Amino acid sequence: MSAAREHFGSRLGFILAAAGSAVGIGNLVAFPVAATKSGGGAFLLVYALFVFLICLPVMMAELALGRQSDKDPVGAYRQVSGGSIGWRIPGWFALITPFMIAVFYLVVTVWVLGYLVATLGGNLDQLAAGEHFGQFINSPIVFAYLVVLMLAINGILAMGVKDGIERAAKTLMPMLFVMLLGLVVFVLTQENAMLGVKYYLTPDLSKLNAEVVNNAMAQAFFSLSLGMGIMITYGSYMKKRDSIPGSAKAVALTDTLVAFTAGLLILPTIFHFNPQIDPTELSDSSAGMIFLFLPKIFLALQESIGYFGASAFAAVFFFLVLVAAITSLVSIIEVPVATLCDERGMERKKAIYSIAGVQFILAIACAVSFGMVGWLTEFMQVAGNTVSFFDLVELIFYSTILPLNGLLVCLFVIYKWKRANFDRELQEGDPSFAGSLSQKYVNFSLGTFIPLILLLVFINTVAEKYFGHSFF
Ligand code: PHE
Repeated sequence: MSAAREHFGSRLGFILAAAGSAVGIGNLVAFPVAATKSGGGAFLLVYALFVFLICLPVMMAELALGRQSDKDPVGAYRQVSGGSIGWRIPGWFALITPFMIAVFYLVVTVWVLGYLVATLGGNLDQLAAGEHFGQFINSPIVFAYLVVLMLAINGILAMGVKDGIERAAKTLMPMLFVMLLGLVVFVLTQENAMLGVKYYLTPDLSKLNAEVVNNAMAQAFFSLSLGMGIMITYGSYMKKRDSIPGSAKAVALTDTLVAFTAGLLILPTIFHFNPQIDPTELSDSSAGMIFLFLPKIFLALQESIGYFGASAFAAVFFFLVLVAAITSLVSIIEVPVATLCDERGMERKKAIYSIAGVQFILAIACAVSFGMVGWLTEFMQVAGNTVSFFDLVELIFYSTILPLNGLLVCLFVIYKWKRANFDRELQEGDPSFAGSLSQKYVNFSLGTFIPLILLLVFINTVAEKYFGHSFF
């Protein structure tokens, strides 16, 4: 199988594809809101430290594991552990996690698509009316949008790694950068914009408590697409002559810059018409921001640029989010696709159909759990709260398992695969890595405090989400 394995055509292609995975709804909406509410510049600093000191070594570990084994996550853990039964479990986690995260992410992306279409159809005023969201997500049209979205994503995947994933990233990512910068430049020239920038960037150390630090860590980890098997899979498509440390740094930097720049878009837009706003009152959830709050802000833009201008601005924004979400979804669905091909020897197109079939059903189950189907809406009780099927998928796979997967990758790479082998893989394609400070840091941190921090995040999440008790 490995002889025929496809690889990314160029280093830039890999970097754009991995950055396409990393840049998602988390960067464009969750990050700016979290930064604003949690100490502005002080949060940015903590976040950047987490990205480069904690998450970057984990990304290198995942990429190295993938490239060395030339396999999907299940195969990578199996091969590198020499078939040990216990070490197969993280491989399965690294398969089921992306599979299920894709399901709920698909549903949110369907809503973004719906909002884009509505804006293009001249209906921004309806979107800005509070009740629209609830009606829209419970209307049968979401199924049609789901079909369209899945056709687009699986269409890209069906073209393969180089002609599908890489080519899409090379087209969509530069487009995303240009659209983002265009919106930022426009909004910064508007009245009161600088108040937003000031609020976003002014450091407020008093807000930096343990909870904020914990959230910054979780956000950084999710944003870099770690713990989802994605970087293991993408690593297996990297060429031996390309530098893993160098490429990983480029991906982390791009991801962080996009998140930072998104703040320069969101905050000034909000402050433009609400210079008095207290941003600590902004919704914590990205969905609340995108679908309830931002449409109102976009509509308010009509006072300066007219209804058409405001709709154009909103349409570019929704399109931007859609593009970011599609490149993330492509990467996450590639994980189960690669696994079926590698582990079952299945033909790529057949693997894509099989996975799409199951994901379609599960995504529908999520989509109808906002009221359309009663028992899925009130699916379970967790820590005294009624959670829907959608909430449950998000709770288990996104909140709980991600840090656990990260912890297992660190332990596996350092203690089972062994430091020396990992180090050799990092030096392959990057001779200057040998003897560098980065090398010493990566080798030391991955075997010591990084797994410890991930363990703390994991324990705290379980205590908080399942037992209603947070340590931090
Ligand atoms: N990094 C993505 C984000 O910030 C997370 C993600 C990756 C989600 C892949 C889904 C699929 O939104």
